[in-house]
Amino acid sequence: MNTRTASGRTVAYDDAGSGLPLVVLHAFPLCREMWTPQVDALRDNFRVLAPDLPGFGGSSGFAGAPSMDGMADAVAEFLDALDLREPVALGGLSMGGYVAFAFARKYPGRLRALILADTRAEPDDETGKANRDRMIAFAREHTAADVIEQMMPKMVSGETQSQRPAVVAEVRRLAGMQSVDGIIAALKAMRDRPDAGPGLGQIAVPTLVIAGAEDTFAPPTMTQSLAARIRGARVVILPGAGHLSNLEKPAEFTAAVREFLAGLPLAA
Ligand code: MLT
Repeated sequence: MNTRTASGRTVAYDDAGSGLPLVVLHAFPLCREMWTPQVDALRDNFRVLAPDLPGFGGSSGFAGAPSMDGMADAVAEFLDALDLREPVALGGLSMGGYVAFAFARKYPGRLRALILADTRAEPDDETGKANRDRMIAFAREHTAADVIEQMMPKMVSGETQSQRPAVVAEVRRLAGMQSVDGIIAALKAMRDRPDAGPGLGQIAVPTLVIAGAEDTFAPPTMTQSLAARIRGARVVILPGAGHLSNLEKPAEFTAAVREFLAGLPLAA
């Protein structure tokens, strides 16, 4: 793990390999380590950067009110702290995807390509917001390990639950390490996030949309509809994977990312 100070806040991150920078943003309530299979596999060809988003892993929490824009700003400040000025390929899974939408809207000139995994452009509806409030109240009274137990049935596919116990154990391990304060802040930021739909037509970089076929947070119909609103977006659906498709089907996920990045047009 490396650390940098960006705008007075600590950012913990992994940084491996060299070449086109690929920045990957983790899901809720996990941390940068969920990207270990991709960092290990892609470092031969790319510089893979996996930061902990504010309040997760080894990163400081929010300075002000939690928001997706604040997370996107933290990513931009992290790139500044690394003196990384060239446009990057940015990937985000689920909550990481929400941050990627905000980053694409706020910093379009810093993007070379976008990878949106198991995520959705739609904001929370009233039921979704009420569920966030219930989860915030639950988290205040419980531990991070209790929070992930509530979520687990929707995090991975039935196939993963029955056939890949090591993946389930890894999700428990990663989520169990997170601070309840970070979890609560992220729940507020997700509850209050804006509709990313209006920005989709403005995305002007090559985009890969990828999801598990059994993802119930971002089911394939939603994934197809997301891709249809982004010019030229490519879609990959991974059979047998649920919401955490990069962990459930790491080889297939990585192969899709590698092929996509290898096919990018040369930088201007
Ligand atoms: C995630 O995987 O990041 C979260 O489940 C997303 C969400 O709760 O909206």
